[in-house]
Amino acid sequence: MTLPSYAETVENMLVEMTMIQNNTALMQAAVADGRERGQLCFRCHGDDGNSKRDYIPNLASQNALYLFTQFEHFADGTRKDYVMSKLAGHLSKEDRINIALYFSQSPVAKRQQPVESNAKGEQIYRSMCFACHGNDGYGNQQYPRIAGQPYEYLEKTLMKFLHKDPERQNSPMSSVIQNMNEQQMKDVAAYVAHMP
Ligand code: HEC
Ligand code: HEC
Repeated sequence: MTLPSYAETVENMLVEMTMIQNNTALMQAAVADGRERGQLCFRCHGDDGNSKRDYIPNLASQNALYLFTQFEHFADGTRKDYVMSKLAGHLSKEDRINIALYFSQSPVAKRQQPVESNAKGEQIYRSMCFACHGNDGYGNQQYPRIAGQPYEYLEKTLMKFLHKDPERQNSPMSSVIQNMNEQQMKDVAAYVAHMP
């Protein structure tokens, strides 16, 4: 027997999640289950997916498939975080799907950000980022939502991509921003943090 490739698995997940999202009864059941199973995430990510600390990302309104694939990345070591890497391996496939669906339908709350938005950041976003993350920063099935994430998380994450940190290795983001500098990352992070 040959195991399905990772790409096939992601493809199957997309089909399965879309089927649930398009069926009100299934979606309600998944969200209720995800809320139950997601209890141990609330301490850090908030019970509605709006994170409790600025270095922790919001899961609220994040694309369900992106959330699901990040569990896979934490579990297989492509992405590393002390807590998340341990947690990800302990969730069943059903949990990963339901938890992703639960957080994906929760709205993002307005957050106090430590920096102002700025025109340079907007210019960078409009030329370098919108093509994948969308004009509104909401992404889509293939790309994460970044609008309204805490500035600290955005800045920290962009620095990891820029410096090819092994905590987020092989990310397409590293080549996108390879010719940019730290100040540009800070400017664009400030703009994205304030996107509603
Ligand atoms: C002790 C705090 C803590 C707990 C508990 C926790 N997380 Fe996290 N989570 C984090 C941190 C910190 C990060 C950011 C890691 C990084 O910088 O790459 C993160 C990142 C994530 C990401 C990636 C999001 C993105 O935008 O890329 C997902 C998905 C996630 N967590 C889901 C969960 C789920 C589901 C649970 C519960 C089963 C959970 N987390 C519990 C702290 C926590
Ligand atoms: C070619 C498509 C593409 C472009 C252009 C792009 N991104 Fe990304 N971005 C991605 C993908 C794919 C991911 C998910 C990466 C991963 O899982 O490692 C991502 C992830 C991110 C994340 C991490 C999200 C999270 O929750 O952890 C941030 C922040 C980000 N991008 C910001 C930007 C900014 C700012 C720009 C413009 C300077 C940009 N991106 C341009 C494809 C793109």
